[in-house]
Amino acid sequence: MFFKKKPKNTIDPQQVTLVEHAQQRIAQKKRFNNHLLATLFLVFFAFVLNFAFEYKADFTPFNTHWSFALAALLGVFLLIHFIKVYVFYTFMGKAWETQQMEFLLEKQATMVEKIKRSMDKEAALKASAEWEREKQQKNITMIAAVAENNALGMDNKLIWHLSDDLKRFKNLTKGHHVIMGRKTFESMPKALPNRTNVVITRQAEYAAENAHVVNTLEAALALAQEDDRPFIIGGGEIYRQGLAFANCIELTRVHDDFEADTFFPEIDTAVWREVWRENHDKDEKHAHAFSFIRYEKIDV
Ligand SMILES: NC(=O)c1ccc[n+]([C@@H]2O[C@H](COP(=O)([O-])OP(=O)(O)OC[C@H]3O[C@@H](n4cnc5c(N)ncnc54)[C@H](OP(=O)(O)O)[C@@H]3O)[C@@H](O)[C@H]2O)c1
Repeated sequence: MFFKKKPKNTIDPQQVTLVEHAQQRIAQKKRFNNHLLATLFLVFFAFVLNFAFEYKADFTPFNTHWSFALAALLGVFLLIHFIKVYVFYTFMGKAWETQQMEFLLEKQATMVEKIKRSMDKEAALKASAEWEREKQQKNITMIAAVAENNALGMDNKLIWHLSDDLKRFKNLTKGHHVIMGRKTFESMPKALPNRTNVVITRQAEYAAENAHVVNTLEAALALAQEDDRPFIIGGGEIYRQGLAFANCIELTRVHDDFEADTFFPEIDTAVWREVWRENHDKDEKHAHAFSFIRYEKIDV
């Protein structure tokens, strides 16, 4: 199929107007020059007839030779034409210049206004994006119980039972959003009470009782926007992705190695700084020694 190509550079309408006006002006001056030549020729011809050939030499309108009277009449017409072309000429006179100047100024003002508006919009967007990031980064916490070898779970179940750890988990997360992967959600008997449960899955039709379902971690965090401390509670896949968004890790380090199929990502000490720790020995209620450790992301 053949498409007519659009010309790359179209002429500015302002330039077209200028060219049109210039053409009109040239035509106007040309007409005046022709008028002048015709007048000179007619006067010369009249003088020759009147004086050389003495044609109607005795005809004297207004008490003068008829050729003079005719020259005066033609002169008046020529003068009127001259005044029209050179005195009252308004095509590109002062008024036209002022009008053009106003037009250009108006055009410029509109452009400046447009640029200002887009800059304001950009600044507002930037500020709101920064604000959003700050707001999100400030309070997002990952909470996990992790063995020395970073083990997290096995066969979609927790490996240990540490009642103080569960208590701490309950106290910290109560009233907040708890964001988790679909597998972690399914590893629990039901949604966690007194918390807003958010389940992440790639399945479009997934439904979870008493929980919000979203398709990305970003969507989960957006849902928790109003929460001053949303928690990412696992499992392994979600923790790995959560590291980029969180700025705090509440870690329970269980001081043993375990066989597992799910692991917590390595904590990079160049990125994360330990800011608080509380150690617990093993006792009749706790089969393993453990430590509560808080990490905060180092500002870069
Ligand atoms: N020790 C602890 O503190 C702790 C805490 C929590 C969990 N766990 C353990 O961890 C294990 C579960 O962890 P896991 O790594 O196997 O699974 P998981 O992280 O809980 O869930 C993985 C699922 O989340 C969804 N998902 C992950 N990334 C996604 C993304 N970017 N967008 C959309 N959906 C996404 C997918 O669901 P779909 O397949 O439906 O798409 C994926 O299969 C269990 O053993 C559990 O007991 C331990």
